[in-house]
Amino acid sequence: KMGCVVELKICALFVLFGLSQIVNGFYLPGSYPHNYGVGDYLNVKVNSLTSIDTELPYGYYTLPFCQPEGGIKDSAENLGELLMGDRIENSPYRFKMLTNETDIFLCQTKALSSKEFKLLKKRIDEMYQVNVILDNLPAIRYTSKEGFMLRWTGYPVGAKVQNAYYVFNHLKFTVLVHKKDETDVSRVVGAGDASEMIESVGNLGSNAAAPGYMVVGFEVVPCSFLHNADSLKNLKMYGKYPSPISCDPSTIAAMPIKENEPLTFSYEVLFVESDIKWPSRWDAYLKMEGA
Ligand SMILES: *[C@@H]1O[C@H](CO)[C@@H](O)[C@H](O)[C@H]1NC(C)=O
Repeated sequence: KMGCVVELKICALFVLFGLSQIVNGFYLPGSYPHNYGVGDYLNVKVNSLTSIDTELPYGYYTLPFCQPEGGIKDSAENLGELLMGDRIENSPYRFKMLTNETDIFLCQTKALSSKEFKLLKKRIDEMYQVNVILDNLPAIRYTSKEGFMLRWTGYPVGAKVQNAYYVFNHLKFTVLVHKKDETDVSRVVGAGDASEMIESVGNLGSNAAAPGYMVVGFEVVPCSFLHNADSLKNLKMYGKYPSPISCDPSTIAAMPIKENEPLTFSYEVLFVESDIKWPSRWDAYLKMEGA
């Protein structure tokens, strides 16, 4: 499977970052506007861990992260995702459309074996990044440097501060959504390549005409948070952590990882309505620094 996909991928990247400047609003092959009703589940996928240092990708679940309740599945759904990803899998992160949620407990891993502990430190030293995807959009992370806003895709597995290692174990997601109206329907369905895709995919049917919200942006802020062991007792996946989890990206030194100790993960999500229309949702990625 991989041999031909790798070549296609280079080709696709060329198209994405080369031709895109002259094409106004483009589509990832096989991606189509998906409408979600309020409260519909949105499932986050994970791509391989990548590093600009080594260029060697590793599967997300090679590190001790929380696993989905129903098991790990290869989750590339369309050509665009195959082109984009080395290995796209499902993740336990899930949201409900237009529903802000905070302090969501995800899981506590088993105590880190010495092998897992060493591997985590190695991947942090090698600058590996986690790549999360929602509705075909890789998460964008903003950082500011000397008054400039920089954008990146993905977020680091963790950080080393002095001699301690930290994993980003709390994620703050923001989903930008655009409310669908009549004019969007005609624009989207009328756009040549998209409508062809819709026919060839053939499983959209009624969805294309239903009212709802479309995902037009996906952002992540990674944080390190020290969860209280007592607060975790009896908490199941998606349970509400009993006290507010603060996510301050400027203080990472919260939870140093240790051998024989578990990792705890949690997240929060905000939905913000946006004027960005679905065909322009990739524009932000074309202005990326380190893509
Ligand atoms: C979610 O929270 C954000 C930030 O506080 C707010 O702007 C937005 O309106 C909220 N969205 C919903 C659906 O409540």
